[in-house]
Amino acid sequence: MLDKLERVPADVILGLAAACRADPNPDKVDLTVGIYMDEQGRCPVFDAVREAQRTLVAEELTKAYMSPAGDEAFLQGMGRLVLGEGSQALRDRRVGSVQAPGGCGALRLGAEIIRVAAPDARVWVSNPTWPNHFPLLSSVGLVFETYRYYEASDHTVDFDGMVEDLRRATVGDVVLLHGCCHNPCGADLTLEQWGVIAGMAERQGFTPFIDFAYQGLGDGIEQDAAGLRLMVERVPEVIIAASCSKNMGLYRERAGIALFVCRDEVNAQALVSQALVVGRRIYSMPPAHGALLAGRVLSSEALTVSWRAELDAMCQRIQGLRSSLRRKLEDKSGGDFGFIEREKGMFSFLGLSVEQALRLRSEYSVYMLDSSRINIAGVNDHNVDYLAAAVAAVL
Ligand SMILES: Cc1ncc(COP(=O)(O)O)c(C=O)c1O
Repeated sequence: MLDKLERVPADVILGLAAACRADPNPDKVDLTVGIYMDEQGRCPVFDAVREAQRTLVAEELTKAYMSPAGDEAFLQGMGRLVLGEGSQALRDRRVGSVQAPGGCGALRLGAEIIRVAAPDARVWVSNPTWPNHFPLLSSVGLVFETYRYYEASDHTVDFDGMVEDLRRATVGDVVLLHGCCHNPCGADLTLEQWGVIAGMAERQGFTPFIDFAYQGLGDGIEQDAAGLRLMVERVPEVIIAASCSKNMGLYRERAGIALFVCRDEVNAQALVSQALVVGRRIYSMPPAHGALLAGRVLSSEALTVSWRAELDAMCQRIQGLRSSLRRKLEDKSGGDFGFIEREKGMFSFLGLSVEQALRLRSEYSVYMLDSSRINIAGVNDHNVDYLAAAVAAVL
């Protein structure tokens, strides 16, 4: 039986990162995988997380299963972090929340719930979107429509195109939005544009599904949530998949949450019960460690202050890297790279052809996706000159 299965190709991004690791060139630059890296090229553990871990290990009394909905401190803390301390939806108790194995697990829980609620739902995704959205959402049988989003020629959001396409989204459809720091393009909606999409959701009746994996890495924790919160204020039903992978550095611990903003408390409880059935069917119980750490950070004032300061510093460093890369690229090539500074979070397209991206890899050991999507956090003071010179050379 098993011998009939053939080998399938490895994940493209992970494959490129492995190729970079194996490359002997001492000047190599890895701009592939979406993890935050510091000046030394390490993906650091937050001090607050390390401290939470120290106390957790000292105090932990059991490894018995978690509650199926997850750790209460995590659920409460994440609800406030994502929706805001003053959230009316939280006060009205109409938000159902379920811990999930990472943001991916939360996306999958959301997709499963959509499938139960509206089996014929079409999910509208931006063009482009994070490639993993397709397997995560289509494996439950949902079908896709795409809406225009990124205008590659001038590195902006094609908002008129987006609005025109989403005019066809109706009741029972779901519109997947990137909460902030769009992956892969880094071009985000303005608050005013969020307002327009919220108005369309109100009038047309589609359900926003917000993928929120980068809160705190664009403009700051509260600023990055502004569009999402506006949507929740105006639209009665919103699904959110949030992740602590990037903003708490808990990647391997798989700490995520699905938030179902509903019309009332009864409905929110119904949604939690549905999500628990789904979770039970797929992975049974949520993983403990990462959510317990995040729960400890978010329920301790001192740890929250420390975590926020470290995340803010990370955010500012990314912005600084964007400015410095822009400057160096413009100096070396004479071109206009202002978009790098305008875009948010860890990703941008450099706007190179596939041939140019391949030449960067083979001739300069600069690894980026064929689409020329780069992880800005792979840039640092040591490699920025080399990188800019290499890009200028292939342009
Ligand atoms: C757009 C987007 N959504 C969701 C995720 C979920 O990440 P995780 O499952 O590691 O929390 C990622 C991670 O790279 C992402 O880029």
